[in-house]
Amino acid sequence: MSKREVILTGDTPTGQLHIGHYVGSVRRRLELQETHDCYFLLANMHAYTTRADHSAEIHADTLEIVRDYLAMGIDPNKAAVTLQSETPAIAELTFLFAMLLPFNRVMRNPTLKEEIKVKDLGENYCFGFPLYAVGQTADILAFRAHSVPVGEDQIPHIELTREVARRFNKLYCGIDENIEDDDPEMEAKGVFPIPRADVGKVGRLIGTDGVNKMSKSLDNVILITDTPKKVKKKMGQIYTGRQSMTAPGDPESSLMQYVDTFITDTDRATELKDKYVKGDNIGDGHIKVEIAEAISALLAPMQERRAEYEDDDDTIIDIIRDGTRRANVQTEETLAMAKEVSGLGFFERKLSF
Ligand code: TRP
Repeated sequence: MSKREVILTGDTPTGQLHIGHYVGSVRRRLELQETHDCYFLLANMHAYTTRADHSAEIHADTLEIVRDYLAMGIDPNKAAVTLQSETPAIAELTFLFAMLLPFNRVMRNPTLKEEIKVKDLGENYCFGFPLYAVGQTADILAFRAHSVPVGEDQIPHIELTREVARRFNKLYCGIDENIEDDDPEMEAKGVFPIPRADVGKVGRLIGTDGVNKMSKSLDNVILITDTPKKVKKKMGQIYTGRQSMTAPGDPESSLMQYVDTFITDTDRATELKDKYVKGDNIGDGHIKVEIAEAISALLAPMQERRAEYEDDDDTIIDIIRDGTRRANVQTEETLAMAKEVSGLGFFERKLSF
């Protein structure tokens, strides 16, 4: 068995990925795929929580994510791109983990609450909606992941996952109730490592509305496929409230987050921030143009790579099939271990792909 640490993270197919995904998580994955056993999960079942009536769209969106992965530099030979709906151990563990979590604990998850609010779900969400939070614990634990690169908003899900892992290990692996997460006994005796959230430097990129997190559902995103003209237009929409070229700017403004994130020449970034904060004759418009150019320069090679796969669904499906095969080796092993200790192990089974 591999001694390398296991990384698991995923994306719900809600449309194309955007630069918030890139700086928040995918950029980090590019480093990790060189050194770790990485699995990147296409969380297509999760998309059904709010869009079960849009199944064809979810199917298409799932393929689009893979195109965006490839565009951004994810290498399917290094990392396994895996499909949630064809990784049955995840569904089975979801069922079991649902028994280990008090219902009220799941409903207290602030990310779920926020989603209910933002998507205006009221009381009209399906049973599977809160269940997806339990499902996400299974996504992670099925791979026995050590670390989960995610944006800030996902931290409550990782917290829940840590609780499930702890609970399972203590219930079924003879680990003492008082043992700490980082005690070597936890990993040595437990089925599940207690996974960490790995939040990147930009845990939450502000969207082009200048206020909210960049998010497809808020229509404030810059897509990987956006042309330089579009990027420039969208950047122009960021509202800062600054009135003139000599007004001192707020160093915490969304514009400055973009400077920090996208102007890769650090001397230039410092200079821009200095002038902005002092109100030293520099307009928001000028800074926006410079940021837009930097973003387009970042996107150009991605768009070139993406174009290679534009009409090639077969290659995309092959990549998913291969990644899912590798994922099933890992997750079936986990499931057998979990069943063995929890009283569900009766005989061996083998799935084939
Ligand atoms: N819920 C995550 C999102 O919306 C996607 C996701 C599904 C995920 N399963 C995961 C992230 C497991 C990390 C680990 O972005």
